Amino acid sequence: MTLPYAKSDSYKIFDSIAGRYDLINTVLSLGLHRIWRREMRRKLPVHSEQIVLDLATGTADVAIELVKDVRIDKVVGVDMSEGMIGIGRVKLRKMGLNNRIQLQVGDAQKLSYTANQFDAATMSFGIRNVPDVNACLSEIYRVLKPGGRGLILEFALPSSKVMRALHLFYLRKILPLVGRVLSGHGTAYTYLNQTIEEFPYGENFVALMRKAGFQNATHRSLTFGIVNLYWGDKA
Ligand SMILES: C[S@@+](CC[C@H](N)C(=O)[O-])C[C@H]1O[C@@H](n2cnc3c(N)ncnc32)[C@H](O)[C@@H]1O
Repeated sequence: MTLPYAKSDSYKIFDSIAGRYDLINTVLSLGLHRIWRREMRRKLPVHSEQIVLDLATGTADVAIELVKDVRIDKVVGVDMSEGMIGIGRVKLRKMGLNNRIQLQVGDAQKLSYTANQFDAATMSFGIRNVPDVNACLSEIYRVLKPGGRGLILEFALPSSKVMRALHLFYLRKILPLVGRVLSGHGTAYTYLNQTIEEFPYGENFVALMRKAGFQNATHRSLTFGIVNLYWGDKA
């Protein structure tokens, strides 16, 4: 089944729901998104004074989580949606984090940064939305310093048959309904299940990371396998 919108336009959907995104995220994930982000932060490289790139940064929640870590000096967040970035900027101002987090509009498939700049790059629930996953992974690899780490959070499907059936019921029946009511948007959450079910996960995604050049690429399942954390290092 094809999506009713091109993935290259997905940021426009986020533009239209930006003001409600954080609330919807919390409700639909039952607050678990905070735990998933924390797990990603724990897998950052160990050294101090890191500069981290957060792709598909949205309303900057990952960037805000990252700067809680004393190892992180600065985070640069990039997203295609001006609406999401706008909400993020308001949050940073209120939290006094403008000096540590910088948000920019940009495409994760064509980054404007020169090579070998960042100690780590993160992408949370964003890579499923970009049309060219391989280009995005190659860009992440390019802008990392040698020895830098790429970390990606993305939805997956549980391997246990029972959990998988329960999760698919949630994704196909409950999530679109709740998403539609909360967002006021007809399709924003209707096709989320489809993008999750069609996206490569587990070892299939790890293989894409290896193809982009990542060494020691691996993953860990979180919350019964409904989300995977992937990471890999630049040689
Ligand atoms: C599900 S949100 C994730 C936001 C945030 N990372 C989080 O975990 O809450 C997906 C984000 O990807 C952004 N996005 C979609 N395509 C993109 C692209 N090609 N480059 C950068 N961001 C993109 C959207 O605008 C949206 O803000």
